[in-house]
Amino acid sequence: MPPARHPARIHPATLADLDALLALEEATFDSDRISRAQWRRHIHSASATVLVSGDPGAPDAAVVVFYRRDSRGARLYSLAVGAHARGTGLGRALLAAAETDARARGCTSMRLEVRVDNPAAIALYERRGYARGAREARFYEDGADAWRYAKPLAPVTR
Ligand SMILES: CC(C)(COP(=O)(O)OP(=O)(O)OC[C@H]1O[C@@H](n2cnc3c(N)ncnc32)[C@H](O)[C@@H]1OP(=O)(O)O)[C@@H](O)C(=O)NCCC(=O)NCCS
Repeated sequence: MPPARHPARIHPATLADLDALLALEEATFDSDRISRAQWRRHIHSASATVLVSGDPGAPDAAVVVFYRRDSRGARLYSLAVGAHARGTGLGRALLAAAETDARARGCTSMRLEVRVDNPAAIALYERRGYARGAREARFYEDGADAWRYAKPLAPVTR
């Protein structure tokens, strides 16, 4: 696995990142976009983690993880790297940071869904140990199918 070309500065998102997160979302996804109100809620939610990379107020990539109080399974809800920043290891770094966050919250697995027509994301997840599960027909708003993926997370060792 090649190292990142630059050390990613990954940190929790703040409301100062809202405009840039919306722009990233709009530039990245054609459907199922996270709205301003939803970003705001996720940033403040105890059951979500939003991590970004880049300068404060100008993130170039973001990952969103959801948690449930009654579950030790985390859900990677969204991962987006700005087009200009792709292919430099940011996606891998954010995914690793999301997994670290999930482990720190006591989660033992991470699951996610990915469009069946998204080979870049599928390659990223499979190279990081995610196993393909069921195909979900018409999972996305535009009617596209999804693959479900999951990965066990090793517990934090002290
Ligand atoms: C998928 C995405 C997050 C990858 O981010 P990235 O920063 O470009 O990826 P990285 O540079 O960290 O590469 C990590 C791995 O992803 C895979 N990958 C990345 N881009 C790829 C491409 N264009 N084709 C094939 N595999 C690719 C490779 O397996 C790569 O590992 P390697 O370098 O060891 O071969 C990014 O392309 C993106 O934001 N795409 C649009 C949004 C999206 O699809 N999000 C996922 C929704 S589930």
